[in-house]
This record gives sequence, C-alpha cells and structure tokens, in this order.
Amino acid sequence: MKKLSASILSADFGRLAEQVRLVEQAGVDWIHVDVMDGHFVPNITIGPDVVKAIKKATSLPLDVHLMIDNPERYVQDFVEAGADWLGIHVEATVHLERLIQNIKELGARATVTLNPATSLNCLDYVLKDVDMVLLMTVNPGFSGQKFIRGVLPKVRQLRQRIDAENLGVLIEVDGGVHTDTVSDIVAAGADVLVSGSGIFGKHGGYGPGEEDDDARRLAANVRRLRELMK
Ligand code: DX5
Ligand code: ZN
Repeated sequence: MKKLSASILSADFGRLAEQVRLVEQAGVDWIHVDVMDGHFVPNITIGPDVVKAIKKATSLPLDVHLMIDNPERYVQDFVEAGADWLGIHVEATVHLERLIQNIKELGARATVTLNPATSLNCLDYVLKDVDMVLLMTVNPGFSGQKFIRGVLPKVRQLRQRIDAENLGVLIEVDGGVHTDTVSDIVAAGADVLVSGSGIFGKHGGYGPGEEDDDARRLAANVRRLRELMK
C-alpha cells in the first residue's frame, strides 16, 4: 500500500496545529515536515520546537526532511523533538555513513535524500543501511514548483536495484506531486508520495462550498490523489 505524506510547508502556519489535525482527518498517512536553514536552500522554515508542537497535534508518524547544512549538528534535537523518520541530504554532509548510523542509534528511521541532479551512485556503499531514499523531483526550497520529469528514470532505476538486492528500503518522491503526476510516479516504483500544494491548495472542480472549507477541500484533494495511487 502506497503512503501519502502531507507536506505542511503549504499549510497556514498561523494555524499549524489545526491544519495538521485537518490533514490527519483527511486521511493522509504521514506528516512531512520541511526544515530549511537559508544556507543549504534559499528559504528558512522551522526548528525543533515547532516539530515538538506538531508532534503534540497528531498521532501520525512525522517524516522530517532536513534541508540544512551540517545536519550532524541537529539530528539529535530533531529525533528528540519527535521525528519518526529523519531525512538528511547527501549533498549536505561529508560523513554520510556515520550520520545514517547516528540517526538509527538515536531511534529514528534514516532517510537519505538526493537532489534532482545527484546520481544514485552516491548510495553504492550505504543503500543497505538506510530505511528510505527520498528522490527530490524539484530543487528543494519551496512548495508549488513544477515536477521535474527527468527524475522518473532515476526512480525506476532505484526500484530495480532495491528489488534486485531484495532490500526493504522505501522510495519516497517529493516535489510537484499532483493529480497529473501521481500515476507516473507510482508506475516508476515509489512507495511514499509527499504532497504540499497538491493537498493544501485549491485546484478547482469542487462541490458547492467545498473550496473554502479547509476540512472538506483537504479531504477532496486527498481523495483525488489516493484514487490515482491505487
Ligand atoms: C520542497 C519540499 C517539499 C515541498 C513540496 O523543498 O521538500 O516537501 O513542500 O511541495 P509541493 O508538493 O507543492 O511541490
Ligand atoms: Zn520535503
């Protein structure tokens, strides 16, 4: 069963706890939390204290995506704040293997994340050690960007490799996941789809009063994405 992880980057930050509860009610599987430092990516979002607050608002697993330089300095804080899955970018550390082990020792699942231009070769000596690989289908930093179709062959190659080596590693895709891209992503072999604007945005075609009612719009958006994930 494919999983849907809701990126709260597209939520109303002024009502974050409520938005997290609504998206849980709408039926997503995980809450995806995008942490940005203004160095690794050109945007700044949230830190461990906000992750702690989100943890209190939901019973769903927290899928934390660190887009920060020197992630080794902060993994402990984010695990203690409630990250169930903790993702670090291969481009942000020179001690990848140590960091993966560190995350697992702290008690979280380790996700290794690759930017669109990063080759799968960087996983050669660590793939068996990770719990999930996140393949970015936009350049990280913002929600609402256009899906980069050129990453789909990379998803397919990784699927083949994980299956051939009989590994239990999950493949997650993040960026530009919308009704027009979901089928291709699923066909390429992804297990977990992250969606921000696809879940929180307004995409038309709603029933009367649905568009401006957050609970009903989120439920409709989640239903549409799920239909295509089957
Ligand atoms: C981008 C983030 C994504 C983003 C996805 O840097 O990692 O999680 O919120 O947003 P959409 O689904 O709108 O592309
Ligand atoms: Zn993300």
